[in-house]
Amino acid sequence: MWWLSLYRSTIGKKVIMAVTGLVMAGFLVLHMAGNLQAFDGPARINGYSAFLHGTGELLWLVRVVLLVAVALHIDAAIQLTRIARAARPQDYAERRVQVSTIASRSLRWGGVVLAVFIVFHILHMTTGTVHPSFTPGDVYHNLVAGFRVWPVAVFYLVAMAALGLHLYHGVWSSARTLGIVHPNPQPLHRPVAVVVAVVVAAGFALIPIAVLAGWLR
Ligand code: HEM
Repeated sequence: MWWLSLYRSTIGKKVIMAVTGLVMAGFLVLHMAGNLQAFDGPARINGYSAFLHGTGELLWLVRVVLLVAVALHIDAAIQLTRIARAARPQDYAERRVQVSTIASRSLRWGGVVLAVFIVFHILHMTTGTVHPSFTPGDVYHNLVAGFRVWPVAVFYLVAMAALGLHLYHGVWSSARTLGIVHPNPQPLHRPVAVVVAVVVAAGFALIPIAVLAGWLR
């Protein structure tokens, strides 16, 4: 079967990483924009959350798509790392960076930080298991009370920095894998990747920053 041999090939795994990564990036743009409604007050963001939860099957469809995307993305990442290590079992005596960026070199570790973040985030903001005073339906309260615990807010900010780097290299790399853009060694000549990474990471980071600064209370 053609799809099985594609899945087994290195380029097939890269295509899986690219497509699942872009699906998740699309979700993140919408999620970040939705969160910014917190600046409009509790009624606005709580109303938005009630609307999302009221969509029933649609909410579950999005959850299943994201879960499958995350699982395939992590599985392909582990397999590609194994293939790369097997091809170069002995490390270089000296590494001299040429065209790589911090974003590309931190991709694997950044991915691990994000995986830990997602588990914590769901236990924090969705199930409330690790939240000091989780109130179902009151997203505004959950955000403010959750980020008043400053080590948690700092953890979110570190994770958003990792997310920015991951998105910057990931969006660019996906576009290369899928043949949408041409190679360009200049890191800043990747405008779409830069804009997506900066807007998403900064947009998300605004909420914990606003709580720490007392703008959201
Ligand atoms: C500062 C950054 C973030 C904040 C303040 C935030 C806030 C929230 C809140 C309040 C909810 C619950 C919404 C509701 O129940 O109506 C939520 C759900 C969710 N967040 Fe985030 N989020 C952030 C970053 C992220 C990131 C970076 C990811 C993914 C990498 C993510 C993935 C999710 C997912 C998948 C859900 C839905 C869980 C479910 O209901 O099944 N979030 N987020």
